[in-house]
Amino acid sequence: MMNMLNQSIQAAIFDLDGVIVDTAKYHYLAWKRLAAEFNIKLTHEDNEKLKGVSRMDSLDIILAMGNVALSQQEKEKLADKKNAWFMEYVNQMSPNEILPGAKELLIALREKGIKISLGSSSKNAKTVLRLLNIEHLFDAIADGTMITKSKPDPEIFFIAADLLQTKPAHCVVFEDAEAGVDAALSAGMFCVGIGAPTSLYKAHQVVATLENFEFKLNAVQPA
Ligand code: BG6
Ligand code: MG
Repeated sequence: MMNMLNQSIQAAIFDLDGVIVDTAKYHYLAWKRLAAEFNIKLTHEDNEKLKGVSRMDSLDIILAMGNVALSQQEKEKLADKKNAWFMEYVNQMSPNEILPGAKELLIALREKGIKISLGSSSKNAKTVLRLLNIEHLFDAIADGTMITKSKPDPEIFFIAADLLQTKPAHCVVFEDAEAGVDAALSAGMFCVGIGAPTSLYKAHQVVATLENFEFKLNAVQPA
């Protein structure tokens, strides 16, 4: 694995939901349930726009779809309700919901001396990592509690790079969200998209899963 790893990569930043663990489906289910209360039908396609986006920004996008205007207080109540549903799903999750190849890649990168940080918009990130018992595989954790702007803003990835004391040009980001790919590119980082090329085509390299992952060397820009 990664015998062709470019020397310029010194740190790896992983998104959580949909990259390390199959929680993207739980965010979708919980938002769909909330949207239904306003007679808004949330499709898979709509959901692609929510991936990587913070809880409040996601709620605003959904409410705008139904032309629903609410006070800040009402919105906070709804965001709490969605989060309670999400946590119900997450609490029933088992370690076999770690996505194919993710844990193996974390371990292999560590063995190569690559530093690793989480770079997730989620405020539940630490809880999820703890539930899966994989917190120890990270040198740093940048999560939704540390940012003022959510992806596609690059803030989360700059925080992760700072925590690892690595320049952005030496970082690789693993992302499943269009907003996350945009954030990584704005940060000047190499980006691997995990999922469908239709939504992730801007990434330097796109793979269906992290199973047997290898960097596509010719896509890595020299630092
Ligand atoms: C991102 C997810 O990782 O975190 C989004 O892709 C989610 O769907 C966002 O809205 C915020 O998560 P949380 O757990 O703080 O509501
Ligand atoms: Mg994601």
